[in-house]
Amino acid sequence: MITGAPDPGMAGLAAGEGFARLCADRGVLFGGDYNPEQWPRETWREDVALMRRAGVTFVTVGVFSWSTLEPEPGTREWAWLDEVLDLLHEHGIAVDLATPTASPPPWLGILHPETLPVDRDGVRLAAGSRNQFAPSARAYRDAALRIATDLAERYAAHPAVRMWHVGNEFGQIDYGDEAARAFRGWLRERYGSIAALNEAWDTRVWSQGYRDFDDILPPRRAPYLLNPAQTLDFHRFTSDELRACFREQRDAIRRSGATQPITTNLMGFFPLVDAWSWAEDLDVIADDQYPDPAAPDSPQRIALVQDLARSLGDGRPWLLMEQAASAVSWRPHNLPKSPGRMRLDSLQAVARGADGVCFFQWRQARAGAERFHSAMLPHAGADTDAFRGVERLGADLARLRPVVGGRVDARVAMLFDWQGWWAASEPARPTTRHDTIAQLERWHGALWRRGVATDIVRPGADLSGYEVVLVPHSYVIEDDAADELRRAAAAGARIVIGPFSGVADAHGAILTGRSPVPLRDLIGASGEEWVGLPDDGLALALPSGEPTGPSTARATILAERLRTDGAEVLATFAEGDLAGRPAVTRHGAVWYLGAVVSEDVLATVLDEALAGVSGAVPHVPEGLEAVRRGGALFLLNHGESAVDVDVPEGSEDLLTGQRTSRRAKVAPGEAMVLIERRRT
Ligand code: GAL
Repeated sequence: MITGAPDPGMAGLAAGEGFARLCADRGVLFGGDYNPEQWPRETWREDVALMRRAGVTFVTVGVFSWSTLEPEPGTREWAWLDEVLDLLHEHGIAVDLATPTASPPPWLGILHPETLPVDRDGVRLAAGSRNQFAPSARAYRDAALRIATDLAERYAAHPAVRMWHVGNEFGQIDYGDEAARAFRGWLRERYGSIAALNEAWDTRVWSQGYRDFDDILPPRRAPYLLNPAQTLDFHRFTSDELRACFREQRDAIRRSGATQPITTNLMGFFPLVDAWSWAEDLDVIADDQYPDPAAPDSPQRIALVQDLARSLGDGRPWLLMEQAASAVSWRPHNLPKSPGRMRLDSLQAVARGADGVCFFQWRQARAGAERFHSAMLPHAGADTDAFRGVERLGADLARLRPVVGGRVDARVAMLFDWQGWWAASEPARPTTRHDTIAQLERWHGALWRRGVATDIVRPGADLSGYEVVLVPHSYVIEDDAADELRRAAAAGARIVIGPFSGVADAHGAILTGRSPVPLRDLIGASGEEWVGLPDDGLALALPSGEPTGPSTARATILAERLRTDGAEVLATFAEGDLAGRPAVTRHGAVWYLGAVVSEDVLATVLDEALAGVSGAVPHVPEGLEAVRRGGALFLLNHGESAVDVDVPEGSEDLLTGQRTSRRAKVAPGEAMVLIERRRT
């Protein structure tokens, strides 16, 4: 095995610094998951040759290799991995080395059945797939720690290893006895006494008072609705417990002397992990994104996920760890992605802050559950449109080196957090049609169409520097978050707040009084009731209170019975029991939507609030995505016809080397990455 020494210059770097150095060295990273243990040695040689041809610079190795590395308890089979890492290094390919802990070997569940997770119905899940571990089971944690430690000690100094990847897509949930034990410990820590827990969960309701922490269970299947405070805490616990698994392995890697950045792959708006808390532990935000090529709004929706990935890292460049080269195999009906679409998706990630574009996976599996999942190198081999598309992308990414490290400068913040999402997703509420992420997507989509850059911000975080703050649906607004909104308003920010925000406290209990309790002074209006609306919604009257001709302005899904307390009324309900009541208000520079409003109304309010905030280009034609990152202007045409865009005179397209005049034409499915060049 080739040996080296850990790079002392990398030790103790601030978050993102190690990744920044890697990308400064290698350019935009390009590659994918590489599973050589599934292939004979001859194939490895072909792999590295084709990787070179495609411009691959970075591969993730070992994600699911536990049973290959440790076929019997306590054994270690390193020889194949030594060889693979050496081979990759000889070919100049950097490695993101994974701890294999997402998929324990079957023997672990046989020797320690308690390491297998139990679902909410009490069914213990079997080995034979992957992810079969109970995060709280000590025997799992110890075995994971041992293999992670040995792996790190062996390879910390290997010159191929430039990053560490802990586990994979942490997202296991367990309701078994191991989880119950750990949940009780977590609750003891949080509440100190059983009396405090009973108070926080208000266990007087339905006779749920607990005598002792030992009486408490995870929210297993019960005859009827569960206590929402218990469920909310179990969400927090699950995220923290998985994070503890991550941290144990991360710390073991560091103890081995490894100085490379350490991360794991998040999954955007994934419900089981509070990525805001995890982000503090990751040296670089890595995210897996699988937009559905069959859905026309995929580019718009994935843009929100990409803005989240960037925002989780406080604006620092992030890594697209996984995407599909073409079709996935886990949807019921899997449409392929054209090579052009795959290229555009990849460039979109770079536009929104990624300094690395990777795939699941390098070579398409011939066997196993994912045998029909696409890969960079398909079953049919290199003489394919798909592989030529991969080669083209590799060449494109190599041209984007000037973009590396560049930041997206957003003047608009959009609030989102997991605890509000969790609490708002509990059953038994005014309507289950009101969905936090769907609302976020609608509002973000309006900004996307305008080419306006947006950061996603955790409620309570510093809002200074933002000209506009959007709160599409923050169900839980704690005092710090309300204070921060007030501070932002006082500092001149314009704020738009959507319905059903500021409803509950951190235990999910409703804040009593006219709603939204923490915000009503800010919005100058208050409500007394949340009202689910009929299927076709209610007409709205704008702005004089009289419907003027046929109007498309409507409220759907959910409304509030509001009155103004100082705010001006911008729209009222025009029919039904709410007729004449305010639907949209404005109080100074704070807009309030007392209902889920139709696109036209949302657009009018956002236009007013966004006045003076410029988009990436003056006018964004339909289908075009326009993003400024650092000194580069990304133009991505997701539409089906060519568009003309006003751009700075004398810009050069990094992808083609061509200069543009003041007006650039972007062909359908095509992209430009323009940087301004002084004429020489
Ligand atoms: C991801 C996972 C990969 C692969 C991929 C398929 O969730 O991390 O290992 O299964 O999905 O789309």
